[in-house]
Amino acid sequence: MDNKTVQLHDLNFSTSISAEKIAERVEQLGVDLNLDYEGKNPIFIAVLNGAFVFTADLVRQFKGNCELSFVKLASYAGTESSGTIATRIGLEAEVRGRHIIITEDIVDTGNTMFHFLQELAELSPASIEIASLLVKPDALQHELDIKYKGFEIPTDFVVGYGLDYNGLGRNLPDIYSLIH
Ligand code: IMP
Repeated sequence: MDNKTVQLHDLNFSTSISAEKIAERVEQLGVDLNLDYEGKNPIFIAVLNGAFVFTADLVRQFKGNCELSFVKLASYAGTESSGTIATRIGLEAEVRGRHIIITEDIVDTGNTMFHFLQELAELSPASIEIASLLVKPDALQHELDIKYKGFEIPTDFVVGYGLDYNGLGRNLPDIYSLIH
């Protein structure tokens, strides 16, 4: 992959995972999901905003019936997690007794996912699993079982493929990491 750099606001980023590599990995995750959820009509719940690209690609790998819902949670300002979940909108789907696959762009400290899991569990779904394109294992502060994981990455701030830095970068097809 040719190394590309991009400037967003005051920061510079360089390519870290190419669009081709992402597509390959998403296809493999699709294979796993098709095996595990055959005939189960799962509900994919996408965590906005970042997961919109990953979710769009992932659900199109799913061959059976499935439903899709969106929630908005936020714990980030700039490049630092604030540790609090500020907002939650959405979740119109009836999740009781249903198989849920939460789709996330990235699990960093795990705060967002930890709290959302608790909230979701109260709605008595049949099962809940997490599909996250990226995981930063060294930043994790909660024990989370992430069954469908795209890539494990170092604790660097990344943008692209849905991920932003203060609003910019979501449209980039590749994933870029911050140049220090
Ligand atoms: P957590 O609660 O610390 O796990 O953070 C989860 C959320 O923070 C993700 O859904 C992203 O929206 C955002 N986030 C975490 N790390 C990054 C990053 O490296 N780039 C962009 N957004 C990030």
